[in-house]
Amino acid sequence: MRLGVCYYPEQWPRHKWESDARRMFELGIRRVRIAEFAWSRMEPEPHRYEWEWLDTVIDMLAQHGLQIVLGTPTATPPRWLVEQHPEILPVAQNGMTYNFGSRRHYDISSEVYREHCARIVGQMTRRYGKHPAVVAWQTDNELGCHDTVPSYTEAARVRFTQWLAQRYGEIGALNDAWGNVFWSMEYRRFEEIGLPNRTPTDANPSHWLDFRRFMSAETASFHALQGALIREHSPGRDLLHNFMGFFTSFDHYEFAKSGLDIAAWDSYPLPRTEVLWFDDDVKHRWARSGHPDIPAFNHDLYRGVGNGRMWVMEQQVGPVNWAPYNPVPTAGMARLWTWEAFAHGAELVSYFRWRQAPFAQEQMHSGINTPDDTLTAGGHEIARVARELAALEPEMVAHASTPRPRAPVALLFDYEADWIVQIQRHGADFDYQRLVFEWYSSLRAMGVDVDMLSPDADVSGYRLVVAPSLPIVPESLVAQIVRGDAWWLFGPRTGSKTRAFTIPATLPPGPLQAALNVRVLQSESLRPSLRPRVAIDGVVGHGLRWRDHVEPGAAVNVSAAFDDGLPAVVEAGRVRMATACFDDALLRALLAHSARDAGIDTVSLPEGVRMRRLGGLQFAFNYGEVAWRANAPDNARFVLGNREVGPADVAAWIA
Ligand code: GAL
Repeated sequence: MRLGVCYYPEQWPRHKWESDARRMFELGIRRVRIAEFAWSRMEPEPHRYEWEWLDTVIDMLAQHGLQIVLGTPTATPPRWLVEQHPEILPVAQNGMTYNFGSRRHYDISSEVYREHCARIVGQMTRRYGKHPAVVAWQTDNELGCHDTVPSYTEAARVRFTQWLAQRYGEIGALNDAWGNVFWSMEYRRFEEIGLPNRTPTDANPSHWLDFRRFMSAETASFHALQGALIREHSPGRDLLHNFMGFFTSFDHYEFAKSGLDIAAWDSYPLPRTEVLWFDDDVKHRWARSGHPDIPAFNHDLYRGVGNGRMWVMEQQVGPVNWAPYNPVPTAGMARLWTWEAFAHGAELVSYFRWRQAPFAQEQMHSGINTPDDTLTAGGHEIARVARELAALEPEMVAHASTPRPRAPVALLFDYEADWIVQIQRHGADFDYQRLVFEWYSSLRAMGVDVDMLSPDADVSGYRLVVAPSLPIVPESLVAQIVRGDAWWLFGPRTGSKTRAFTIPATLPPGPLQAALNVRVLQSESLRPSLRPRVAIDGVVGHGLRWRDHVEPGAAVNVSAAFDDGLPAVVEAGRVRMATACFDDALLRALLAHSARDAGIDTVSLPEGVRMRRLGGLQFAFNYGEVAWRANAPDNARFVLGNREVGPADVAAWIA
């Protein structure tokens, strides 16, 4: 468990570098990420490199006991490169070409740009790859951010047609798979195929889904190109990328397979609460702490993406600049977020940023220091975490590093599911990530730890596996259901599509019928005023947004039905399916029932309190406004805080 910081030496006068390094170390920081936007200083003119400043910075940080995470600067091609090759600029879905003047102004599919990236990354890795203080590399920065993936350029189109030719072999197979006879969309050659944007009405959903898959593969191969150079010239260092919260423009599991040691992600709980789907009263409730499940949801997801290894590369410490409203966090939150990340398995929590910049786009974004080097409120909290970490070290090593037991519940998170719902929303307020988040949140409010996994993952050892929605059900998953002894709970729209984005021949839930013998005869989306009523274990609630009209086959039990007689929950043995989205109370009842069946203990935590088990330690976090008396055993030994967990406070005991 280490602390880190994001630092931009190129943005500050040289005379500050030494005291910055010293003050970082004194504060308890041990790792520094640098260089990810500094291309114009590394190569101010084509092929004229200036490394002296970076040599100096790296040596100076190293001399002060700091380890370095080097970022490749490919998120910000310099002006001269755009001038030489304007075709590298990305194109938005509406066909508009982006301008130079901010960042991410490049097309991920541009072969010219990829060559320049390989050149600068080759230079960097050869120069610094074996420096003893360089411990890790970050490729680019937040790939896909600002809607730059997908990019709709001619280069992307050409590569897309090649990708399709590879996938389908001959054009007839593609026409059949996509159903191109519909509306005379048939193609004679792969080269005729365009991108699915700028059509008068909906483009074919199969066309869209393949385009999303292609763009996802492009993102992974863009990273892999740099990854290969890093592996070659910087052996033994960790390779990572800093992903974003709730970001699904590419399949992160596939990305990880292209070469990744650590899934790092950037945690901004307050702006994220502002920009997600929450009602205004929910946004108000958590305006200064962030919604209590936002950081954890992403920790659990990225731990899965990283195959167990996860970092927080950028952690918010104070107000940021990019949400509609940017309040100051409640005192204590920077510390709470840090401990919560560690409790969810983060090896490093690195803060954004060392010092607020008085200029340019992010001048309203705070950091650990003000522009005049006064430690901010968040900075003081970090100093406290560093002291706590130091005091706890032996305890932590002994208890936190005992092998992490599996969480009792596996939640299947599927990127293609999100794309499918975006491509064919069908109901204005049906949102895949929102549905997943609601299920996650409901489990967390019952004190249940969750591992998030791909639907292709091996889930043996989990007692309960939940899939809030899974339009494409992999055959391998069905095999696991049949073979294993876990309990399973699926949500609406499960098994509703084939891989080609068509309706399964046996009707939904398609392959899942081998384990749950039902057919979905029709599906409806529900406007907010259409709320069919149903009770589960005496809890009366409503179906929302979506309802699959299910016909149960032999050996299927309808365990809850809506007032109009339609099944709300159907089950056969250990497999259960909810046919609709449910309101909070009903969802809680359904998940509690499923947990009980699977032999998992649940508790009812007060609003804003969350728990997490890490090896032999039990953590508790209070996002709420009222102190909570922790439900620890009477003789529990507290290593952090105590039984009275105040607002914005943390406790941990040996469990
Ligand atoms: C991140 C990004 C950083 C900085 C930060 C501001 O998305 O990686 O470079 O812009 O947001 O919150």
